[in-house]
Formats: sequence, C-alpha cells, structure tokens
Amino acid sequence: MMTQIVQSEEDIWDAVYKIKYLLKGLPFSEKDTQCVIVSLLEIAHNVLDHGGGMGTVICKRVDGGICFIVSDQGPGIPCVDTILKGQYTSHSGLGLGLNGAKRLMDELKIETSTKGTRIIAIKRYV
Ligand SMILES: Nc1ncnc2c1ncn2[C@@H]1O[C@H](COP(=O)(O)OP(=O)(O)OP(=O)(O)O)[C@@H](O)[C@H]1O
Ligand SMILES: [Mg+2]
Repeated sequence: MMTQIVQSEEDIWDAVYKIKYLLKGLPFSEKDTQCVIVSLLEIAHNVLDHGGGMGTVICKRVDGGICFIVSDQGPGIPCVDTILKGQYTSHSGLGLGLNGAKRLMDELKIETSTKGTRIIAIKRYV
C-alpha cells in the first residue's frame, strides 16, 4: 500500500515512483506497468489543473491486481458522462485525458460532486 499527497508536479513523480515499486513485486508486464503509470499521470495532473490543486493518491493491492484512488476536494467534474462516452476531446496537457486514462485500466469509476472528485481505477495481471 502507498499514499502520496499531490500538490505539485514533483509530488506526482513521487507517487509514480512509489507505485512502480509496488508493481515491481507483482507479475505485471512492462506494458501494463506503463498503462498504470500513464493513467495515474493523467488523473493526478487533473487534480493540479482542475481539482483545486491538491489531492491524494492511494494505491493498494487487490485480488489479482492493484487499485489506485485519486481524490481531491475541488469543484467536481461538470460533464462526466460526456467525457466517459468519449465525446469530450481534451485539448491541452498530455492530450490523453480522462477517457484515455480509463482505456488504459481494466476498471475506472468516477465519483464526483461539487465537494470533490474520487477516481478509483483497477488494473489486473490475471
Ligand atoms: N479532478 C477534477 N476536478 C474537476 N474537474 C475535472 C477533474 N478532472 C477532470 N476534470 C474536468 O474534466 C475535463 C476533462 O478532463 P481531461 O483530463 O479529459 O481533459 P483536460 O484535462 O481538459 O485536457 P488534458 O488532460 O489533455 O490536459 C477537464 O477539462 C475538466 O473540466
Ligand atoms: Mg487532463
């Protein structure tokens, strides 16, 4: 299990470093490891860009894989259905966006309200 507060770009890289360490002990392929990292980068950058600038990343083992949870107390995602239908095109940053981050994971759930956002993502090695 790892946790990391995210308030800066440097914190995001600390989270990536810790998740890599966690994944190393599990039978993930190099490709799947990259998928998890790129997905986390997108979601964590959104905390800095849209989610009030501060959040937390937690990553833990689940049956046959890992789960990461990224939470913030920002204003929430206004058009979450459109985004998840793939009808929203992101236009800045890494350019993969939330929908791309979802495609890289096996499961991705978004809980969002005007009090904040929580994104729960799972990747399995089996
Ligand atoms: N944590 C968040 N809190 C509030 N709004 C968010 C959050 N994450 C995403 N959003 C909203 O969802 C939209 C889509 O996010 P997405 O990451 O797909 O694209 P983007 O961040 O605008 O562009 P890019 O990721 O390419 O820089 C954002 O523009 C923003 O309005
Ligand atoms: Mg984004």
